[in-house]
Amino acid sequence: MTSFDLENLKKAAALKAVEFVRDGMVVGLGTGSTAKHLILALGEQVRTGLKLRGVPTSQETARLAREVSIPLIDAENRWEIDVAIDGADQVDPDFNLIKGGGGALLKEKIVAWSAKQFIVMVDHTKQVPVLGGSFPLPIEIIPFGWGSTAREIGALTNSRVVLRERNGAPFKTEAGHLIVDVHINRIDQPADLETALNLIPGVVETGLFVGRTNILIVSTPDGVQTVHVPR
Ligand code: A5P
Repeated sequence: MTSFDLENLKKAAALKAVEFVRDGMVVGLGTGSTAKHLILALGEQVRTGLKLRGVPTSQETARLAREVSIPLIDAENRWEIDVAIDGADQVDPDFNLIKGGGGALLKEKIVAWSAKQFIVMVDHTKQVPVLGGSFPLPIEIIPFGWGSTAREIGALTNSRVVLRERNGAPFKTEAGHLIVDVHINRIDQPADLETALNLIPGVVETGLFVGRTNILIVSTPDGVQTVHVPR
């Protein structure tokens, strides 16, 4: 599959997600290359009269949303989000996710959890029988004592923990934290792992999104599938 094909699949998933947005809604806007297609498509809808307000999950998303004239709600305000729509790095058969490849997992998670509905858009390459393996689990941690926190995470997971870097320096999240990418072979019990990770002092949030997906949109070369997750 070429990167052109992959981009078209992401776009197809995003166009399907737009169908769930109704006039007057407050929409959580995800981050990443799939979310970019969503924001462009929503901008087009706004141009032709749809009224919506967005809650961006990153500065990058806010910038793009403003470019296409999507009105944004100040992130500091209290909000009532009707639907949050975002991409994911992996999705398992129980609709649990790994997110955070782009480093926006903290805001993405806050927005997803405060929305009435959470819609996830993926192309079929993101579907896996079990989370982990090819994609390391991102975990956002406090810079203070990060080495100890990373060591604890490594001991808990029995896995390699790598501090994320950008341009030769530690990657800083928008909240000023660090990210470690944890190379776990298989995450068989994501809920238990998340609970255990959250008990480690210094861990701010994990990229595990467990039990939150309401609608999964999967784009494949044969078409787009929409799965309503029973809850
Ligand atoms: C951003 O931090 C991530 O959680 C993204 O939502 C995720 O990495 C999916 O990104 P793509 O749509 O670019 O694959």
